[in-house]
Amino acid sequence: MKYVLIFIATLLVVIQFIPSKVINPKSDKNLEIKAPKEVMKILKNSCYDCHSNETNVPWYASIAPASFFIKRHVDLGRQWVNFSVWESYSAKEKDKKLGEIYKSVYNAMPLPDYIKMHKNAKLTQKQKEIIRTWTGKTPY
Ligand code: HEC
Repeated sequence: MKYVLIFIATLLVVIQFIPSKVINPKSDKNLEIKAPKEVMKILKNSCYDCHSNETNVPWYASIAPASFFIKRHVDLGRQWVNFSVWESYSAKEKDKKLGEIYKSVYNAMPLPDYIKMHKNAKLTQKQKEIIRTWTGKTPY
């Protein structure tokens, strides 16, 4: 039993050296999404940690193995939609992403794991409606 604990402790120390830090790349402020104030407020509060280059990384997120999951969410999230570089998307891409955003606020987003740690990121009915109206999409 003692050796198992020593093994686990050693493993926890060793994995800290695996690179898994979330980096906020510098991006041109002009490329950031331009949306009405009330929309920006919601995006910044509930989406920016995974869908922008302005991710806030809490202390526990820097510790492996949590950092592995968090980095993966941020990497994937930025790939899908990155509000920091929104204006670099083509009109077609924006349109497609707006459709996805419309759908996402009613089911998958923000991720449930994230809401557990960030209770005030959970979207209220009103906030969902604000986002939906802003996207200009209709159910399909
Ligand atoms: C904890 C990180 C996190 C937060 C916070 C978050 N997302 Fe995501 N988002 C992801 C990840 C990871 C994916 C990729 C999911 C996949 O590949 O299955 C994703 C995918 C998406 C997609 C692509 C389509 C889809 O539904 O898979 C959209 C649109 C989206 N997010 C919008 C939002 C919006 C809008 C918010 C805020 C209301 C938000 N997300 C908050 C991590 C996050």
